[in-house]
Amino acid sequence: MTGTANDIPATPPNGTQVPPVRVSEPFTIVVFGATGDLTARKLIPALFRLWRGGFFAAPFTVVGVGRRDKNDDGFRGELRDAALALVGVDAGPDWDRFAGSLVYHRADFTAADGYAGLGRRLGEVETGFGNLGRRLYYLATDPDHVPTVVERLSVSGLLPPGTERPWTRVVVEKPFGRDLASALALDQHLLRFVREDQLFRIDHYLGKETVQNLLAFRFGNGIFEPLFNRRYVDHVQITMAEADGMSARRGAWYDRAGALRDVVQNHLLQLLALVAMEPPASLAADDVRTEKVKVLRNLVPVRAADAPRRVVRGQYGPGLIGGEPVRGYRDEEAVAADSVTETFVALRAEVDNWRWAGVPFLLRAGKRLPRRVTEVAVEFRRPPTGLFTAPVRGGGLCDRGCDCGATCECCHAGYQPNTLAFRIQPDEGISLSFAAKRPGMRLALGPVSMEFGYAASFDGPVPEAYERLLLDVLRGDPTLFLRSDEVAAAWAFVDPVLAGWRESMPPAFPNYAAGTWGPADADQLAGGCRVGWREP
Ligand code: BG6
Repeated sequence: MTGTANDIPATPPNGTQVPPVRVSEPFTIVVFGATGDLTARKLIPALFRLWRGGFFAAPFTVVGVGRRDKNDDGFRGELRDAALALVGVDAGPDWDRFAGSLVYHRADFTAADGYAGLGRRLGEVETGFGNLGRRLYYLATDPDHVPTVVERLSVSGLLPPGTERPWTRVVVEKPFGRDLASALALDQHLLRFVREDQLFRIDHYLGKETVQNLLAFRFGNGIFEPLFNRRYVDHVQITMAEADGMSARRGAWYDRAGALRDVVQNHLLQLLALVAMEPPASLAADDVRTEKVKVLRNLVPVRAADAPRRVVRGQYGPGLIGGEPVRGYRDEEAVAADSVTETFVALRAEVDNWRWAGVPFLLRAGKRLPRRVTEVAVEFRRPPTGLFTAPVRGGGLCDRGCDCGATCECCHAGYQPNTLAFRIQPDEGISLSFAAKRPGMRLALGPVSMEFGYAASFDGPVPEAYERLLLDVLRGDPTLFLRSDEVAAAWAFVDPVLAGWRESMPPAFPNYAAGTWGPADADQLAGGCRVGWREP
């Protein structure tokens, strides 16, 4: 493969239909952390798909910046394998054309003198295809490097403030900071060099089709939204389960972060905000983000003293995934042998506002759970009378071993909750479960469901989250990115939990076996006989 920045493929493969939104001017993406996992597994495959789909109507180039020694061809070759594994090997010939747009620049981006060389390289590359300075800096580095890179880009004149033409934008990956204080300090630091509208704080969950569909479903249909409140909803469960353990490249970072910072502060709280928010005044970025931030600010705080009890943490030990033995977290590469980092979190949140007061939001995320599945399930209240159900033991007494007493209503035999489940991944779709009469001479009910699946209902592939988000940032649309007050509100909820954990003895880790649904303590959160965790 011998492509250079001068034979950049300005046009997508023959026969590609022109999509409704496109980037029509030449641009450059500079990726810091170009040799990392995110670049190979997410960013480059997403750009490749966008280009193949005809979303780039003008020439572009991607400059990967990394410390390792390699040339353009070496860089392209490494990315090829990862991209074709994800996009399909039959895309090989297209890849070879696309790869002409990829160049590698070796530099230590923590050192001040690396930026003059980067500036020269960008100048050469951009002259070659007529880009007048439209640049996107993607920080796929360790979060600790973010402040330095942005400052050095600015000082060396590569990051002019403002979004006037030609634009310059910066994408920062989550988690944004390690806690509230560091997130605020990071913001303050970055905003010395760029304006808020140049800064795109990414949470890739917001780019997922089904996550966007939460808004479409709630506010684009007349029949469900009136039910989304404390009167009709019994509780909401949000599960982000991963079967994977720790990859060698991420072990060191993850061991300092843990699941609460890695996915709860961002992905899970964003899902909660979308399912609980009021209808926005419009779909404009600020209107949507303003409604989300209100939800986050209305979360009932967990006091530090209550955190060990109210927020359950777990760490996986050895176990079986898909029948295969896997090692425990403490034996993973780059993880401390006595690590007390959590790989599982479960908590019971409450949104203290007019719509949701008293409705539990059960959140759960973990690695090495039985399967990869992310789901938001809204479980509705049972009907007010037990017309079709018989009280247990005839007297309404509960026989599930909980302490709910004789008046417990949910223990009626035969009761099936109505659940609206948004399947974020895999098999993206929505299902509504309800009761129907079983065929036969008796009047007995059975659970049935109505299903909507993306694959069966719509033609064409479901875009990956990073495709949507990269396209949005190139077009300057911040709707699916986080505003700083959202980030701060999420940290304000998480901070006391971190403090409470720090001040108390960690549980005896490992406390769940790989391949199970997490530690038994999590069951208490969903306890009583009213609810239990779903097994999606
Ligand atoms: C990332 C987390 O944000 O999301 C990872 O840092 C996690 O730990 C990943 O594995 C999961 O993303 P997805 O899209 O596969 O659910």
